[in-house]
Amino acid sequence: MDTSGAETPSIAYKVFTFEESKNARQESLCVSIPEVLDPQYGMYVWPSAVVLAQYLWTHREQLRDATVLELGAGVSLPGVVASRCGAKVILSDSTRNPLCLENCRRSCEVNGLHDVDVLGLTWGEISPDLVLLPKLDVILGSDVFYEPQDFEDVIVTVAFLLRKNPRAQFWTTYQQRSADWSMEALLHRWNMNCVEVRLETFAADKAELAGSSLPGSHSIDMMIITLKSGEDEQRHII
Ligand SMILES: C[S@@+](CC[C@H](N)C(=O)[O-])C[C@H]1O[C@@H](n2cnc3c(N)ncnc32)[C@H](O)[C@@H]1O
Repeated sequence: MDTSGAETPSIAYKVFTFEESKNARQESLCVSIPEVLDPQYGMYVWPSAVVLAQYLWTHREQLRDATVLELGAGVSLPGVVASRCGAKVILSDSTRNPLCLENCRRSCEVNGLHDVDVLGLTWGEISPDLVLLPKLDVILGSDVFYEPQDFEDVIVTVAFLLRKNPRAQFWTTYQQRSADWSMEALLHRWNMNCVEVRLETFAADKAELAGSSLPGSHSIDMMIITLKSGEDEQRHII
């Protein structure tokens, strides 16, 4: 009997195998993600995560030795893939959701990743942990745009990080849940550019990726968000 007072979560493991044939060689990467049998956000792999992970896998050469931060990581499939591809990874989730931070740590443990840092970072809060982050090359966010009232908080955090790291990029995938949602005005207000990355350009335009049943029938999009450069701003004024 567990007398600690803490309930042991029921865990199931989902395996993802990414494959690509490159220079006449078949390369593959297999990761196992522990999911908590609980229908809350951040407890299992969301459809957007496998699409972002596929992008990371197909851009793995760019990730070698890069410093990567994942926001709202939950069970952290993209962060785990980035780390296995040679990036120095920091996983984060809300400070108000210690169970998700536990999920981040569990995913690292299961994949033998001992040099990944896990931090509580709440969107929209400029905390000491956010300010003290090292220099970043890539910021990841899979399905972090799902509650319209949180969009600006996510954007504020990303804008803060891109101002500190003007050459960094925010790679994000999201599920289309409503035709009314638009981030254009927010990106303009926070002086950021966004480019859509078409899923077929990285072989993610499929219902089943990495040997999983995800993303299924969900419509997922990907964007790369960067800070507007002085040149972009001048072009806008002209
Ligand atoms: C829809 S889940 C996506 C989880 C994971 N990225 C994936 O795609 O599988 C949203 C994640 O954002 C986290 N989150 C929600 N609100 C947050 C906030 N205000 N600050 C930081 N993380 C937050 C949740 O804890 C959860 O892990």
